[in-house]
Amino acid sequence: MKILVLNGPNLNLLGTREPGIYGRSSFDDYLPELRGRFPDVEIEYFQSNIEGVLIDKMQEVGFTYDGIVLNAGAYTHTSVALQDCIRSLRCPVVEVHISNVHKREEFRHKSLISCACLGVICGFGLDSYRLAVEGLLNHKS
Ligand code: DQA
Repeated sequence: MKILVLNGPNLNLLGTREPGIYGRSSFDDYLPELRGRFPDVEIEYFQSNIEGVLIDKMQEVGFTYDGIVLNAGAYTHTSVALQDCIRSLRCPVVEVHISNVHKREEFRHKSLISCACLGVICGFGLDSYRLAVEGLLNHKS
């Protein structure tokens, strides 16, 4: 079992970016904990601030890996290109958000990618990623 955890724009700044919303842990600090929870799963991690690079990465793994956990950051709310990409892949994609986007500004309530994803997890802090991996593992395709 092999999955990709893919983070989009500004998520490289986790730990220092708006800690009241996103917490004080960097993703590099959290990753060993996530991997430790799933010893039988190979978890690759990639982050980019660039929409096209996220698409390239999903196209690269989306036909051979077993799933993608995607936090598309602000592109969630704007990107038709990400939606089209997710629809084109063979593997399921789970949309993840650290914060509860529905409790925040109205422009964050709309996701352009949810309709193409297997499911959505949001609002559980970094634990959202673990819940998304659980969802992928329990999913019978
Ligand atoms: C986010 C929520 C988005 O609205 C925001 O643009 C982010 C992070 C989250 O994980 O809560 O960059 O995806």
